[in-house]
Amino acid sequence: MQLRVLSREDVRQAVSMAEAIQIVEDAFIQLSSGKAVVPIRTPIDIPRHHGTILFMPAYLSDSDAAGVKVVSVFPDNIRAGRPTISALVVINDATTGEPQAVLDGSYLTALRTGAASGVATRWLSRKESSIVAIFGAGTQGRTQLEAVCEVRNVYRVWVYDIARETAELFAEEMKQRGGRIPADVRVAAFPTEAVREADVICTATTSRKPVFSHKDLKTGVHINGIGSFKPEMQEIDEITARSALIVVDSREAAWAEAGDLMIPRDKGLLNENDIYAEIGEIANRQKPGRVNDEQTTFFKAVGNAIQDIAVASFLLKKANREGLGTIVEI
Ligand SMILES: NC(=O)c1ccc[n+]([C@@H]2O[C@H](COP(=O)([O-])OP(=O)(O)OC[C@H]3O[C@@H](n4cnc5c(N)ncnc54)[C@H](O)[C@@H]3O)[C@@H](O)[C@H]2O)c1
Repeated sequence: MQLRVLSREDVRQAVSMAEAIQIVEDAFIQLSSGKAVVPIRTPIDIPRHHGTILFMPAYLSDSDAAGVKVVSVFPDNIRAGRPTISALVVINDATTGEPQAVLDGSYLTALRTGAASGVATRWLSRKESSIVAIFGAGTQGRTQLEAVCEVRNVYRVWVYDIARETAELFAEEMKQRGGRIPADVRVAAFPTEAVREADVICTATTSRKPVFSHKDLKTGVHINGIGSFKPEMQEIDEITARSALIVVDSREAAWAEAGDLMIPRDKGLLNENDIYAEIGEIANRQKPGRVNDEQTTFFKAVGNAIQDIAVASFLLKKANREGLGTIVEI
């Protein structure tokens, strides 16, 4: 059997953020229209090393794409200079079931997670949104910013990280990035400084407590909360969650995994009816997105295998056409 092996660099070069946003939007529409088979992912917690390995299978019927991602989240890695997240994706041929390709899933994860926030920002933020705040200057923070800049004309960016030097590195890198990312990237000394003029906020931290206060938010802000993916993790405070129009990637996964919603629910502050929509229902025009400039909108995403499999499958088709990667006989 032959397998195509695609490296991180192959993924980076072959799929742009603009393409990823389109692919992920289409995947969310399939998910919310019942055209995806996606069991809740299986986590294996390894408390001794403070890590989790997640097994994430999916099949999208319109795309006829199937596969699985195995992704590790080990926050202590950062102390050893290693990334928090590492991952591999296997794509299967949906007609025969045979494995077709193995891809680096680390950059792919950052790309599709950014893309999800790009989709949500396009549907939920005010059109004239132009100032962005990023919480968590890590791997995800970078693609969060890239995605928001893809869908809105951004002229200023604030970044806040509990490790100031990490935020400074982020700012230096992003100032030089060019394209749609502006050169005006500022490090905030406090969360308040980052959020008070922000039209769009992305939280991409490993925090277990809220990263900013609701009282500092600007009217009409849109928030993408992607860091918390376990019941005990929380980035968004309860008052903000309670007062916002809440949109999720998947209802089922949100109530099983999203501390940002489960913590206020367990205190009696939110219930299942407080999720307004899945983003796929909005992108599919079943429900309107933002309806006025005063609403606070909150997109809560825990991440879904359909995003990985849709982007990986697009990439594999391109790789087959253009001969990207390496063929290995196994
Ligand atoms: N929802 C999804 O689809 C999805 C996808 C990928 C990753 N994630 C999650 O996103 C989070 C970030 O991932 P990453 O790969 O960027 O990790 P990372 O370790 O590269 O970056 C996280 C950053 O957050 C900072 N941080 C921690 N607490 C903070 C706080 N209270 N305020 C400000 N900054 C703080 C850390 O100092 C670090 O720089 C992880 O929890 C990860 O599991 C979610």
